Amino acid sequence: MRNIVILTGAGISAESGIDTFRDAGGLWEQHRVEDVATPEGFARDPDLVLRFYDMRREAIQTKQPNPAHEALARLDRDWDGELLIVTQNVDDLHERAGAGRVLHMHGTHLNAWCTACDARTPWKGPMIDRPACPECGARSLRPDVVWFGEMPYEMDRIHTALRQADLFVSIGTSGAVYPAAGFVQEARAMRVRTLELNLEASQGSRWFHETRQGPASQLVPQWVDEVLGG
Ligand code: NAD
Ligand code: APR
Repeated sequence: MRNIVILTGAGISAESGIDTFRDAGGLWEQHRVEDVATPEGFARDPDLVLRFYDMRREAIQTKQPNPAHEALARLDRDWDGELLIVTQNVDDLHERAGAGRVLHMHGTHLNAWCTACDARTPWKGPMIDRPACPECGARSLRPDVVWFGEMPYEMDRIHTALRQADLFVSIGTSGAVYPAAGFVQEARAMRVRTLELNLEASQGSRWFHETRQGPASQLVPQWVDEVLGG
């Protein structure tokens, strides 16, 4: 085995204390998706949207990587094959655990995107007070996250990596949101082996060659030990 592509979702960060979207008590029970995670919602009520992401950006910075993030960073460091981590998460816990190659297909909370000049700038503070873009000075910043109805990032590199993979592993994602939910079928069409690690059965479980259920903080370190050991 030479090439592994890993997809992660909100579930891998759940045990770090970041709410998932669709589990009981998740973000989409507390907020209407169409209000806070669509371009139309932002046009309608920008203050509501900026306040929501300011809150999440602040919360994420107080959280720490958990043993699942740490195990993937260990795999990245110690395995002699090619590893690519594709995440739907907008936190930076993979990077803070030490993982090298991470593609954020839904963007990141820790960048501001200027819709006037398209500059992306690292951003830790709030946006509710409409700060100026450091590049062009326009007061047109928004969180650099992909909303429903927008195109995810890095799709070319992800498709290429899936075509070259020997193994595709999905961790902590409900399989409810495309295109990420379709990666398992794309991998299978290329005869790539597929493994799912999730707390419970997901909407995509039936597509995987193998599914293991349990908390990511246990399943991921166990699986990494298997790869590095054998
Ligand atoms: P999701 O909430 O749809 O799915 C999370 C999945 O992880 C669920 O299937 C859940 O059962 C599973 N899970 C939860 N805890 C787990 C654990 N301890 N071990 C194993 N599995 C566990 O998350 P998603 O598919 O990543 O949603 C994608 C979208 O949600 C992304 O666009 C992302 O921007 C956004 N989001 C991001 C974060 C984050 O950055 N941490 C958090 C919530 C939502
Ligand atoms: N370990 C592993 N998996 C877990 C854990 C855990 N500790 N806790 C929850 N899960 C699983 C849940 O069972 C669920 O299947 O994580 C999954 C989380 O699913 P969602 O909340 O739907 O999150 P996700 O799949 O990442 O959402 C996809 O939807 O709202 C958009 O853009 C947002 O990127 C996000 C996308």
